[in-house]
Amino acid sequence: MSGHRLAVVGAGAVGGSVVELAAEYGHTVTAFADSSSAVVDEEGIDPASVLERKRTEGVVGSGDPEDALDAEYDVLVEATPTTLGDAEPGFSHARSALERDRHLVLANKGPVAERYGELTSLARESAGDVRFEATVGGAIPVLSTIEDLGPSHVEAARGVLNGTANFVLSRMAAEGLDYEHVLAEAQDLGVAEADPSFDVEGTDAALKCVILANVLSDGREYTLADAEVEGITDIPGSALDLAAEDGRTIRLIGEATPNGGVRVGPRLVPTNAALSVTGTRNIVQLETAHAGQLNISGRGAGGPETATAVLADVGRLD
Ligand code: HSE
Repeated sequence: MSGHRLAVVGAGAVGGSVVELAAEYGHTVTAFADSSSAVVDEEGIDPASVLERKRTEGVVGSGDPEDALDAEYDVLVEATPTTLGDAEPGFSHARSALERDRHLVLANKGPVAERYGELTSLARESAGDVRFEATVGGAIPVLSTIEDLGPSHVEAARGVLNGTANFVLSRMAAEGLDYEHVLAEAQDLGVAEADPSFDVEGTDAALKCVILANVLSDGREYTLADAEVEGITDIPGSALDLAAEDGRTIRLIGEATPNGGVRVGPRLVPTNAALSVTGTRNIVQLETAHAGQLNISGRGAGGPETATAVLADVGRLD
């Protein structure tokens, strides 16, 4: 594979990190557009200043995504914040790239979780490919592992899929800190969504499970409306203390199956179990048809982590 020309839409922690790291992977950023308020990520990269610097280098015409979509590029990286329902403006950006026969790499979960059928249909009619590893599990290669195994040979996926909720639960349990304090820490780290209620109410994990169900399913399309979702906002510190007395802890666990079972909620897990990862780590357990359980674990959120998945996807394109 030779280097690709990237247009990056979205100047949050993920888009900013893609721009910072692209050259290391042999790619060139030809356009970079903001579409929301910028976020400072945990490595101290300030995407707003990256955007400004790229502008002065002549890379970006303006902060308008439409200009980036009109630029010369091979791959559109869509990294605007996830929105629900019509998944706009991300879905229109995705459609624009595919209709121009360009490749599309999504970090934005909205188009894949809420409009999967339309997205895959556009991809079938396009000379461009669509990939979205970064939408599930941050840096950990969940979707490419399912692709390698063959989706029909995976019977279920389950795991910890939201770094922010996991950070909150594990810090509350280990340090006895209160919920509001730890959530503010997660926001400072740049791992929380633009709207952190997405994280703590279970929506973000549910979107990832919907994406998993769509990938595992043979033709049926799922959206967030198909998911049973419960978050962690009502869990008191005393519940974590009680669980600890019994050698257990509480984790926000998501589950997806090919026939559409999508559930997210707080579950008791033994503290020595694989599912009791700490901090912003994610873990996904794949139940395979003939090879038992595969566990994939690692950093599930953050700018450079998610950019790593985006750039791995870019590397998988022709
Ligand atoms: N806010 C998400 C999380 C980022 O905390 O896991 C990755 O989707």
